[in-house]
Amino acid sequence: MIQNKIEITGGVYLVGKIDDRDVPFHRLILTKGTTYNSYLIDSELPTVIDTVDISFAREYVEGLKKHLDPATIKYIVINHVEPDHSGALPALAAQAKNAVIVCTELAADELKKMYRLHDHEFLIIMDGEILDIGDKTLKFYETPYLHTEETMITFLEEDRILFPCDIFSTHLANTEYFNDAAKGDIREDYSIYYKLIMHPHRRHVKEMLGKIGKLDIQMIAPSHGFILRDNVDEYIDLYKEMSQETGVGKKAVIIYSSMTGNTKKIAKQLKESLELDGIKTNLLDMNSIEEDIIIESVKESDLLLMGSSTKYADMTGKTEEIVKKIIELDLQGKVGGAFGSYGWSGEGIEVLQDYLLKSNMDVLTTSEIIKTTGVNDVQFPLRIQFLPEDETAQIIKRTTNYISGILLNAS
Ligand code: FEO
Repeated sequence: MIQNKIEITGGVYLVGKIDDRDVPFHRLILTKGTTYNSYLIDSELPTVIDTVDISFAREYVEGLKKHLDPATIKYIVINHVEPDHSGALPALAAQAKNAVIVCTELAADELKKMYRLHDHEFLIIMDGEILDIGDKTLKFYETPYLHTEETMITFLEEDRILFPCDIFSTHLANTEYFNDAAKGDIREDYSIYYKLIMHPHRRHVKEMLGKIGKLDIQMIAPSHGFILRDNVDEYIDLYKEMSQETGVGKKAVIIYSSMTGNTKKIAKQLKESLELDGIKTNLLDMNSIEEDIIIESVKESDLLLMGSSTKYADMTGKTEEIVKKIIELDLQGKVGGAFGSYGWSGEGIEVLQDYLLKSNMDVLTTSEIIKTTGVNDVQFPLRIQFLPEDETAQIIKRTTNYISGILLNAS
C-alpha cells in the first residue's frame, strides 16, 4: 500500500510505501515488515527526499503524480544509494525531467552506473553544504557507512527536521507514522535495528552524532518506520549510549610468533587498542611462553588473535605446533582471527587462518564480515606488509573497533 500524502509539518509530506511482507534484507527476514519513507517538501522549488524500494517504483511514481506534476520537481535528494531508497529513482527521474539529483560524489558515481542516469543532471554535495530550495533551506552532512559508504543526511533548517535515511530507523510496517501515535513502546525495535544495522559501524555513528550535535532538531524523519517527533532527544541519546557499548569485561588473548619484530609490534598495538575498549588482553609470545599457560589463557578468553610472520611461505617458530593444539579445544562461542606482518606474499598468515577455520570458534574472515555487516574496510586475516606506521595504526584502530563491537554479542 502506498501511503497517502501525510503532512508531517507545514508543506512537508510523507509519501512512502508500507511493506508488510516478510522482507528479506541483508540475510535477515524482517518479520515485522518495514516502510520505505520518501518525503516531499512542497517548497518554491519542490524537492523529494529519497524514494522507495525498487519493487514499488511504478506504484510510487503514480502515487506521487496525484500530488504534483513530476515535471515541477526541482531536486531529488538521494541520501543513500541502497535500492530500498534509490530504487524508484529511475522511474521518478524519467518523469521528473527537470529535476537535479542531489547526492554525494560517490553516490553520483554509483547511481549513474546502477541506473544509467548519465544524462541526468547531478548536484554533488560536500559535507556541510547548503542548498536553497526557495522558501526553505537544506543542509547536508556526509555520514559514511551509515549505512554504506556514500551516505549523507539532510537537515531542513526552517522546520528543524532531520532526514537521516537509515539512521534512527525502525523496521516495522507501521501505519501510525509517528512515534507518539505508536500502539506500544518502539524502543526495543529501534534498539534492535541499531544493533543489527548501525553498531558494526559504531565509530561512524559517533562521528555522525558529533555532526548533528550542533543542530536543533525538532523531528527526525527516517526512511524506515516511525517518524520521531516526541522525545527526539531521548532517541538520539539511545544512539549515544549504544554506540559507547563495547566488549567491556570481555577477555582476549593475543598469541604471536615474530621473526623480525614487526608481528610483535602489531600484536602490541592490537592489545593496546583492545584495552582502550575495556577488553582485558593477555599478550603471549608463543616461542617463549610455556604451552600450558597459552592453552589456559585461550580457554579463559572470549577472543583469540593469533599472529605469525612468514618465512619461506609458511608460519614461523612454534605457531604450527601451538595452533594444532588450540584447534582441538572446545572454542564454541569464542571469536578468533589470524594476523601478521609479511614482506612479500604473507602465505604464513593464510596458512594460520586455515588452521583456525578448522576450530569450532567464530573465525573472523573478510567475507563473513562483509556478508554479515557490510563493513568493507576491516580485513581478516589481518595482513600488514612490513609495518607502515601511520597506516598500521589506522588499520588496527578500525579492526579493534569492529572486534569490540561484535564481542558484545559473543556468548
Ligand atoms: Fe534502508 Fe541501507 O538501506
